[in-house]
Amino acid sequence: MRLYTQLIETLAHYPRERIPERVVHAKAAGAWGEFECTKDITDWCSAALFSKVGKKTEVLARISTVAGERGSSDTLRDIRGFAVKFKTDEGNYDIVGNDLPVFFIRDPIKFPSLNRSHKRHPRSGVADGSMFWDFHNKNQEGVHCLMQLFGPRGVPKSLRNVNAFGNHTFKFGKPEDGTFRYVKIHFKPVDGIKTLTEEEAVRLAGEEPDYHIKDMYNAIESGDYPQWKMMLQVMTPKEAETFRYNIFDITKVWPHAEFPLQEVGIMTLNRNADNYFAEIEQAAFSPSTLIPGIAPSADLMLHARMFSYPDAARYRIGPNYQQLPCNAAKNVYSPYQRDGPMRVDGNYGSDPDYVRSSFRTIRSGPADVAHSEWVGKVQAYSSDVEPIDWEQPRTLWKLFKKNGEDEVFIHNLSGHVNKALPEVQKETVKMFAKVDEEIGKRLEAALSKLGEHVDHKQAPPSQRVLAEHRR
Ligand code: HEM
Repeated sequence: MRLYTQLIETLAHYPRERIPERVVHAKAAGAWGEFECTKDITDWCSAALFSKVGKKTEVLARISTVAGERGSSDTLRDIRGFAVKFKTDEGNYDIVGNDLPVFFIRDPIKFPSLNRSHKRHPRSGVADGSMFWDFHNKNQEGVHCLMQLFGPRGVPKSLRNVNAFGNHTFKFGKPEDGTFRYVKIHFKPVDGIKTLTEEEAVRLAGEEPDYHIKDMYNAIESGDYPQWKMMLQVMTPKEAETFRYNIFDITKVWPHAEFPLQEVGIMTLNRNADNYFAEIEQAAFSPSTLIPGIAPSADLMLHARMFSYPDAARYRIGPNYQQLPCNAAKNVYSPYQRDGPMRVDGNYGSDPDYVRSSFRTIRSGPADVAHSEWVGKVQAYSSDVEPIDWEQPRTLWKLFKKNGEDEVFIHNLSGHVNKALPEVQKETVKMFAKVDEEIGKRLEAALSKLGEHVDHKQAPPSQRVLAEHRR
């Protein structure tokens, strides 16, 4: 009889061993490490991790691809997510960034559409070049990000050799006096940027789908610890008022010549997880996880994300996900979240579970770093792309040419655009011609050369479905 119970328990547990994978960024490498402050910025920012040179803070990092599922190949051309949880003395601080400095969209309601167009066609269940390029042809604010993705840095050689960016504009400051500065966050790999060519990437995707995860795991096991310098670009609210671009527009960068990078610390990943599921899969990061001294700016995309990540974590892991050891914060006393499924931390015992109890005084943290801020240029972003939006992609194209990277860009781009229907390809050529006519011409020429070998009547059924819908 006892054996029978064990059998049922074992078989019943097994199908329940899966939790939903992340709807985006499903596949990743992850590791523990430390952040060491190399610059004291307490004169203008009171965040605990920057309080003293040499101060160390434990971190948990997760570096992911975006579009592929958990079983996909690491070396596909895609953005890499770069999420870091700093376990500071004043609670957790999460940076949930990417390896490119800009993003495809700036209106958060487009986020599900963007990702659907990069994932699987609803009818065929396979990725579809026409869907991908049709989305971008009709949402051209993404052209700067596309140029970065199809440029020479679109596929890293290793996750240890990627840049990373917080992308959004944040406010760093002092809650005690309400002063703040606008900040963009950068991570620079100490070992430099290393990339794969399209051909190497495609070969490795087949030969070793877990290439990047294995590389990072093995490097850490052998003591070759990945390191990044954390740098900040800093802008005063006064400077924001006259800056050429909207500082809340995530499709734009801040020129380094005007806002130089200032190093504030170094991050080292030095310990692999003992258990991947417990420590990496169940980790939950959110741009809303902030500490006193760091606050969100008025960027609407950022605000949408601040809702979306904890919401996703409650669905993916459960309402008590913040208690799991990988997510639990140090020195945080918050007895207002009580009970719920799988409560495992003692549930605050008999402590008051309502605000302003006369039986125990609870100190609430300082408010936002500023009570007022410059919000002059926050706008509804669904408006059309404007002439100013083409400036930074144009500058990037000039940089590609200067560095001799223009041919690689056209090669990478044409190879992917070629997967779309001819009518979609034409619109994509027109879009890139708006960046620079030369790109349009060279892309068109490359496509017609590739097209000689493609019979579009033989297009995958998913592409034919899309074309039929249009009629
Ligand atoms: C993951 C939403 C834009 C970086 C996710 C997840 C959601 C999401 C729902 C899965 C979270 C989970 O299951 O734990 C959104 C929305 C966006 C947006 C609604 C825009 C409106 C961005 C941007 C960046 C970014 C601009 C980079 C700057 C990441 C990263 C992850 C992620 C790194 C993986 C986090 C991890 O390792 O657990 N996003 N996202 N996302 N997103 Fe976003």
